[in-house]
Amino acid sequence: MKHDPNPQSRPQPDLDSLRSEGDVNLSSNRQAWAASQIDAETRELLEEDARYFLHQSLSTPCLNVLKSCHGATMTDWQGRELLDFHGNSVHQVGFGNPRVIEAIVKQLQELSFCPRRYTNVPAIKLAKKLSELAPGDLNRVLFAPGGTVAIGMALKLARAATGRHKMISMWDSFHGASLDAISVGGEALFRKDIGPLLPGCEHVPPADPWHCPWDCRGSCSLKCADYVEYVLEKEGDVAAVIGETVRNVPYIPPPDYWKRIRAACDKHGALLILDEIPTGLGRTGKMFTCEHYDVVPDMVVVGKALGGGIMPFAALIAREHLNVAADRAIGHYTHEKSPVAAAAALATLEFIESENLLEHVRQISEFALAELNLMKERHEVIGDVRGLGLILGVELVKNRATMERDSETADRVMYEALTRGLSFKVAMGNVLLLAPALTITREEMTRALKILDESIAAVAKL
Ligand SMILES: Cc1ncc(COP(=O)(O)O)c(C=O)c1O
Repeated sequence: MKHDPNPQSRPQPDLDSLRSEGDVNLSSNRQAWAASQIDAETRELLEEDARYFLHQSLSTPCLNVLKSCHGATMTDWQGRELLDFHGNSVHQVGFGNPRVIEAIVKQLQELSFCPRRYTNVPAIKLAKKLSELAPGDLNRVLFAPGGTVAIGMALKLARAATGRHKMISMWDSFHGASLDAISVGGEALFRKDIGPLLPGCEHVPPADPWHCPWDCRGSCSLKCADYVEYVLEKEGDVAAVIGETVRNVPYIPPPDYWKRIRAACDKHGALLILDEIPTGLGRTGKMFTCEHYDVVPDMVVVGKALGGGIMPFAALIAREHLNVAADRAIGHYTHEKSPVAAAAALATLEFIESENLLEHVRQISEFALAELNLMKERHEVIGDVRGLGLILGVELVKNRATMERDSETADRVMYEALTRGLSFKVAMGNVLLLAPALTITREEMTRALKILDESIAAVAKL
């Protein structure tokens, strides 16, 4: 494709196919929201941002400018407070957690960096802690400065350990934005028109409760899990199956889904890699999401919240039998054993444990799901309400019988809620994904749900 210097002359993209990961910045609802909600000073900052950053559909041109964030909320440049149910899923222990900040500051003053060839005490302590917390013999750890690269390490380790290169992953999945991660990822927004991806990446349908090819209509038949086995058998030489234990839409597979895939992997000599980058470390009410499914993957990847929502940090945690690449470089990132990120992670894990956050998540989740189900009775546009811990999904549809996605209403509800003080992500174009800080209080959750209820009612009246 030739370089086109004039973006205006490019054909308008099909927004629905690009909305799987989140709201894109090309919608007309966004332009209308910005025109009525953004003041002159903020507009100037946004223009400067747009002047210097490369434009891309999930960030620049940006919607708004932030000034501060604390706990479950953030405040924009105009001083408006928002309950943040998006947070890129980093805010397990709340924004600006004082204990995490204290640990970071202390570490910065002592050992701020650790060059390769050396190790350091926070990194060792964190590796030990993660291997103690992770189920089964997930005992071997490799750190990375972000989730995407940790996924890349997992793919490389799977190749090294099996001598195979093929991967099976899910359509609609997200494992990061690099070329290797988008090869196993399943979203058009990242894969479209970008050229050849990694060879040997087979995609299968995810455990999507309402839109799967087997038409399970909200009650999964596990045909999607059986199909993974079918592909494993047909290909015969697959290195690994990689999936999000619970996709952050959410897609919450039924209890036997991962057990069936685990058994199929074992039968066909493939490894199982679970991506828990947004969902691990307590968001589902368990430290690791796979604990809900009673399976031990060969590798699990955590990130996002691991750095306390402040430091970019991720960890690949592998089973003992995968310590097989001593003569290769699987990771090798400059900030691999960052003492500051490790100190932040240790403080994060200590906070989750000492504050009994997992129990809090379970209680708030139960309350929120009950309220959302009542909301479903009030609003015809809500086709489904589902959740695990504090990954709550409200699926908006044009018709409950057909469950046809209502992306336009979802986009409008999101902007209406932003005006009223609640931020959340819209996944797959039509699912309002509610993922607050795990420290959220009952009062804050009640306020957020009221805003959501009012926003849906306001959009329905239009
Ligand atoms: C499921 C999943 N995997 C991988 C990633 C990539 O992580 P990072 O953005 O830290 O590279 C993300 C980020 O959103 C994610 O949600």
